[in-house]
Amino acid sequence: MNQIEGSDQLGLVREQLTLPYIKRATENRSSESGDWDYVTADTKTETHCFHTYPAMMIPQVARRLISMFGRCGMTLLDPFCGSGTTLVEAHMANLNAWGIDINPLALLIARAKTTLLDTTRLQHHALCLLDGFEQDCQRIRKDPEFAPIPNFFNMDYWFKPSVSRQLSALHQRIFAIQDPAICKFFRVPFSETVREASYTRNSEFKLFRIPEDKLEQHNPDVGVMFFSKIARNLRGMTQLTQQAKGSAWVKILPEDARHQTSVPSNSIDLVVTSPPYGDSRTTVAYGQFSRLSLQWLGLSWEDIRNIDSRLLGGRRVVTLEAAAQTPTLRKILNQVATEDEKRALDVANFYYDFTQCLNELCRVCKLDAKACFVVGNRTVKRIPIPTDRILIEIAERCGFEYVDRFYRNIPNKRMPHKNSPSNIPGDLGKTITQEHIVVLKKIGEGLKVDVN
Ligand SMILES: C[S@@+](CC[C@H](N)C(=O)[O-])C[C@H]1O[C@@H](n2cnc3c(N)ncnc32)[C@H](O)[C@@H]1O
Repeated sequence: MNQIEGSDQLGLVREQLTLPYIKRATENRSSESGDWDYVTADTKTETHCFHTYPAMMIPQVARRLISMFGRCGMTLLDPFCGSGTTLVEAHMANLNAWGIDINPLALLIARAKTTLLDTTRLQHHALCLLDGFEQDCQRIRKDPEFAPIPNFFNMDYWFKPSVSRQLSALHQRIFAIQDPAICKFFRVPFSETVREASYTRNSEFKLFRIPEDKLEQHNPDVGVMFFSKIARNLRGMTQLTQQAKGSAWVKILPEDARHQTSVPSNSIDLVVTSPPYGDSRTTVAYGQFSRLSLQWLGLSWEDIRNIDSRLLGGRRVVTLEAAAQTPTLRKILNQVATEDEKRALDVANFYYDFTQCLNELCRVCKLDAKACFVVGNRTVKRIPIPTDRILIEIAERCGFEYVDRFYRNIPNKRMPHKNSPSNIPGDLGKTITQEHIVVLKKIGEGLKVDVN
C-alpha cells in the first residue's frame, strides 16, 4: 500500500526523524589495514551515506592517501570529484579542498555532503515537510489533479501517475524552502527517491525499465522512501559535524577538468582522484544514471542529453596519430585498431582528453605536490588496456614523475563491463576487479603536450 492509498509506515519514519543520533559502538574511522581492499569496512559513515553514484571511491582509500601525503592546512584537489568522497575526507582531515565535475547531479551531491548544517534546524524542516506531505496526500486522494504532473520527456514511460503525483507534491514543498543550503540538503534524498520510485531497474546504473509484466505491481511508497533517507542523512550530517571541527573550506566548481579551471596556478599540495575508466558510452553511464533525477530537479533536456558527450572521451575529435603520444598507448591503439577502428578512436579520444587534464593539473599543482590516481584497467575488444602504465607515461610528459603504486581488489562493485564482446550468450568480457593506485609527484613544467 502506498501513501496515497494511506499507509501507517510513515508514522514509524516520523519516529526515526525525531530520534536523537546515538554514536554506534562499532564506528571506526581508522584507514589502517594491511591491504587496500577494505572488504568489511563501513563505507557509509558520515555524509558518505547520502546518495549512490557510479564508481564511487571508498572513503577508506581517500582517507589513507590523505593521511599518507596530506597535512592539516594543505590544499587538495579532486578534478573528477563525482559525489565528493575525497572532499568529505579532506574536510574531516582539515585540508582545504577544491572539487571539479561536469555532471550537475554529482555537484549537487558533493555540495550537500560537504556543507555543514545544524541538524536541529534540519530536523525541524524535515518534520514540517512530513506534515505538509501527509496533508498533500489526503488532498490527492480527493482530487488527483491537486499535484500536477510535470510534463517532461518520457515521463509516463518511467513513472506511474500515482508516483509522479507524490513526487510532484514533495518537489513543490522542497523548492519552497527559502534557505538554499537547506533546500539543497533535501534535494539529495529527493533525487534518490526519484530513481528508486521510477520503473528503473535499480541494480543497474544504466536506465533499463523493469519488465512489462512487473509494472502493475510496482507501487513504491514514495513518502517512506524519501523520509527514511532524510532520517539516514540526518544521522550522517550529525556524524560529519562531530568529525569536522576545523576551519578548512571546500569549493566545488562546475567546470571541465580538460580546460583551464578557476583553480589558481601553483596552489595545490595534493591531488586525490578517481577518473572515469573510459568513455561514458562503453563504461560507466554517468549521464543515464543522472537523467531522471536531473529532469525532476529542473534541468533542461538539452543540458541533460549532452552530459555524456562532455565527459572524458565523449567526442571523437582527434585521429589515432594525434592521440598516440606515448609508446604503450601507441601499441594499444594499433592493436585495437586492427580489431575495430572506431573503438580505437574512442580509446584514443579518451586518453587525449586525459592528457589535457594532466596538463591542467600540472599548472595548478605546486612543485613536489603528490597526485594520487585510482584507476582501473579495462579491456576493449578483449585487449587489456593498461591505464596505469599509460597514465604514468602521459604524466611524465606533463611534468610529473612516478613515485609509487598500490593495488586493491574491488570486493563488490556494480561494474558495467560484463558485456559480451562476441555477442555470444554467456561469453562475458572481463570485469574490472582490481584498481591501481598510482602516486605521482610534480617535478617541473614538463613537455607541454600539443593539446588545445
Ligand atoms: C569515477 S567518477 C568519480 C567518483 C568519485 N570519486 C566519487 O567517489 O563519487 C568520475 C567523475 O568524473 C567526471 N568527469 C568526467 N569527465 C569530466 C571532465 N571533463 N571534467 C570534470 N569531470 C569529469 C564524471 O562526471 C564523474 O563524476
